[in-house]
Order: sequence, then structure tokens, then C-alpha cells
Amino acid sequence: MGSEVRVTVPAKINLSLSVGPRRPDGYHDIATVFHAVGIYDDVTLTPAPDGSGVTVRMVGDATEQLPTDDGNIAVRAVRLAAARAGRPDDVQLEIAKAIPIAGGMAGGSADAAAVLAGCAALWPNSLDATALHDLASQLGSDVPFLLEGGTMIGTGRGEVLTPVLAQGGFHWVIAVSDAGLSTPAVYAELDRLREGREVRPPAVADDLLRALRGGDARALGRCLHNDLQEAALSLRPSLSRVLEAGSDLGSLGGIVSGSGPTCVFLSRDREHALDIAVGLTTTGLVRVVRHAISPVEGARVIAG
Ligand code: C5P
Repeated sequence: MGSEVRVTVPAKINLSLSVGPRRPDGYHDIATVFHAVGIYDDVTLTPAPDGSGVTVRMVGDATEQLPTDDGNIAVRAVRLAAARAGRPDDVQLEIAKAIPIAGGMAGGSADAAAVLAGCAALWPNSLDATALHDLASQLGSDVPFLLEGGTMIGTGRGEVLTPVLAQGGFHWVIAVSDAGLSTPAVYAELDRLREGREVRPPAVADDLLRALRGGDARALGRCLHNDLQEAALSLRPSLSRVLEAGSDLGSLGGIVSGSGPTCVFLSRDREHALDIAVGLTTTGLVRVVRHAISPVEGARVIAG
């Protein structure tokens, strides 16, 4: 047995998320701009005695609601990585969760990406970058991006990645809701709302790419867009009050993150972000308000 490996992994938001029609396999083709923001889960992998298999312990807000068996994507990630590497899956996982659960910030996918990066470090020369990307896309549509981080265009179901030329750094206010939303339920609601409407092929707007190239926060704020927002608001109408509050407080732009219910607001700088965060907290509409910088790196081994 070797020593433990510690991996840190960020949350993601979608600066834009354009959703095409439902595919025969149940997924939707999307065109999105993924952006990694500085809220982190910490995943520690420790080699365990022969035959003990995968175990997981989680610490953090509401983690008791998460499964500890194969229903947990981090557990599935160990099994897949072990099978690919030709190793037994005797690994003990400890996950310190700070990314909101079922919040639309890819918290589960982030943990899976961290596990893949951690297994590659635990078992040297057994998992190359291609294998990691392949395993990541088997695990979930957002997992490949979380291996990379930064800012990237995602197409296909989100797993086909293209780097984006971006400069500058941004400050976000992250408004976390009490209860999560299920990603499949939000996609299904979008399909329901779109019945009889023409659905165009997914695309990324040029304005958004220009704002990123220029590192222009004001322009970026105006370009934020999420096709899933309508469906998240339909399932959770109270989110519209959160979005309104962020706008009234002078944010440069605000959207539901991914499938929600987390809402994210772009601000001018740290001070502006803290002002908006305080303002949102006093509305009582959201339970937890956080400040996060972006862009940040994807899953990184920090010790091991
Ligand atoms: O890929 P992942 O397991 O994260 O996706 C969760 C669910 O979200 C899928 O089962 C599907 O219902 C929905 N989804 C989708 N189209 C995508 C990504 C996710 O319909 N591009």
C-alpha cells in the first residue's frame, strides 16, 4: 500500500448553456461555455487493505443525504478507473464537500473528476490523459470539463471540449438554495415547455466569446444565458425573486447555474461582490451566499 493522495476540485458554472432537441438516447445536444469557479471539494484517496473494496466518507453540509454505495458517482469513478488500470478497487475515499449538493454546479461530477485524477496519481503510468477523458465522459457530461477547468466550450452532451481564449478574472456571488433540483427533471421540464415550439441547434453567441477575449466583465454580464433557466423557474418559481434581487443590487448579470437551483451573479470586483452578497443575505430568500473568483484550474493533486 502507498500513501494517500489529496485532490482539490472546483465547481463549474455555465456562462451560456444552449440546449438542442432531445436525442434518441435521452440526452440533449448542447453548446455551452463551461467556467470553473473557486468553490472546492477536497477528495482524499487512501489505499485500503486487499479485498476491502471502495468505501466513502463524506463531510459537509447535508452530505448525509448522499449515497455511499454505487449510487455515489465518486464510488463508480474508483471502480471504472480500477478496471481500466487493471488494479483492485481497494480505496478509501474521504470527501469534504463545499460545492452545493444538487445545486447545478456539478458537485458530484467534480468529485468524480477528482477521483479520476487521484487514481492516476495513486497508480502511476496506468491511466493516461486519453483514458481519463474517456472514463470521465462515461461517468457524466460535466466530468471531462472538471478534469480541465478554466473556460471551455462544451458540445455533444458537454463532453467534447474546446479551449476558449479568455483573459482576466471575475468575481461571482453564488446564491445557494435550500433544496436541490434534479438535472433529469429540469431537462424533462424544458422538453415539456418546448412542446410544439421550434428548437434551434445549440450555439455559443459570438458576443460572449468577444467579452471573454477582452476580459470585459460588463459585456460578459450582458451575455450570460441559460436555456435551462426557464425550466428551473417553472419547477421553482421562487428563484425569479432571487434573480430580481441580484439585479436590483446592481450585479452585472445573473443567471440560474446549469439545472439550478443555485443562482450566480457577476460583480465588478471583490468589494462589489461582498456588497451584493450582504444584500442578498438580508433578503432572506437564500440560505447561503458565497463569493467565488474565476476562472480556476480543474481537478489537481495537491499532496500524495
Ligand atoms: O451526464 P449526466 O449523468 O451528468 O446527466 C444527468 C442527466 O441530465 C441525464 O440523465 C439527462 O437526463 C440530462 N442531460 C441531458 N443532456 C445533457 C446532459 C444531461 O439531457 N447534455
